[in-house]
Amino acid sequence: MDPGVLRGEVARTGLYLPHQPSTVGEHSGNGLQASWCNGAAGFVHLWTLAHRLLGKQHYARMATGAAWAAFEAPQSNGDLCCGLAGRAYGLLNLYKHSGERVWLDRARDLAECAAVVSRASSQRRDGLYQRCRRALSSPVRVFWDAHPGEIARGVGGAGKFENYFAVFRRFVLPLVHSRARVTQLLRGGSPEVRNRFYRERWNSLRWRLLFRVFFSRFMMGRLGRDPSFFRYVEGSVAARIFARAQHALTELDPADNPYLQWILTGQHQTALPFALRAENFDKIRHHLDRLEWWRMPLEDFLAEAGPRAIDHFNLSDIFEYMSLENYHALLARLVAAGRPGGRLAYWNMLAPRSRPESMAGELRPLDDLAARLHGEDKAFFYSRFVVEEIRA
Ligand SMILES: C[S@@+](CC[C@H](N)C(=O)[O-])C[C@H]1O[C@@H](n2cnc3c(N)ncnc32)[C@H](O)[C@@H]1O
Repeated sequence: MDPGVLRGEVARTGLYLPHQPSTVGEHSGNGLQASWCNGAAGFVHLWTLAHRLLGKQHYARMATGAAWAAFEAPQSNGDLCCGLAGRAYGLLNLYKHSGERVWLDRARDLAECAAVVSRASSQRRDGLYQRCRRALSSPVRVFWDAHPGEIARGVGGAGKFENYFAVFRRFVLPLVHSRARVTQLLRGGSPEVRNRFYRERWNSLRWRLLFRVFFSRFMMGRLGRDPSFFRYVEGSVAARIFARAQHALTELDPADNPYLQWILTGQHQTALPFALRAENFDKIRHHLDRLEWWRMPLEDFLAEAGPRAIDHFNLSDIFEYMSLENYHALLARLVAAGRPGGRLAYWNMLAPRSRPESMAGELRPLDDLAARLHGEDKAFFYSRFVVEEIRA
């Protein structure tokens, strides 16, 4: 039956609730609400249930009409209640009821839109926090209870370094490049296109000057990171980060870089970090029970783990914040706690760290592998990636 006729039938019954008190729900083209809470998407569930229980064909037609109304309404927020996610659920319900695959495809379309929209502007952060809250230790709970604003804005952007980038994005970047130019940069393109754009449009004198001032040791030490983090840094901070930024804007494709997108726009646009990608969600969820949290210095953890206990160490950039002597001492303890053939992986940001010659007999550097991975690394601000193998 023609979807238009079906929609009319849905509206005529009076059982369908257009223009309910909610002002949040979106209306479909003909003025019907599309939402799950008091609109067409919710009525798909009602009519499919009625059809299953009472068997009358009329109810199946009503379900299809309501589904069309939910599908065709203009895009709204990603919400389950009033937005795209709730509408996707409605269409999924019709697919399960009717077995018509086309409704599964339509549900997917809406769900994908919901995922994109929600990432940027979730309205459910407090609700998610309330679900996690019970599982938190009491000091952690007290901390987050006192920071509702950070939760509402998203904890992913709440850190000191993230705030530093936010200041850059809001107050420095607009002095150099328009929003349109940033959009053009993030569109990426072939290596030739990227290089030409960088040379001719992006790498202006003003960009170079402001970059060097804002990412200087002085500014970063006051606004972005604890000044003590710089105790072991050698050489010019800004020059090194500038070279890495140039690499990220030209040799890497900005269209694939979630971190660059976040820094320049405050959102992930066309790319997501690995852990946030939809295809990895189930895998991560199914392995959550394999994770253990140990909130303590690595040094203490190694003492508990004992000898030859660990295959792989992902050490992030932790050697950045300790003296060379402490780094060497910790490296020896890591080797003792690791299994032969096991690997250590870590970044250098501003303090150069890799195994000393005196440990050549215990650690074999895998320089080619590390250099290749560093060349592809989208977390571009690190100056070096190191992989070392524990010798048998
Ligand atoms: C760059 S962050 C990486 C955090 C996390 N792995 C991630 O990817 O989001 C490095 C982390 O290592 C922690 N850290 C530094 N030295 C440490 C040590 N000796 N023992 C345990 N953690 C340490 C810092 O507090 C910081 O949270």
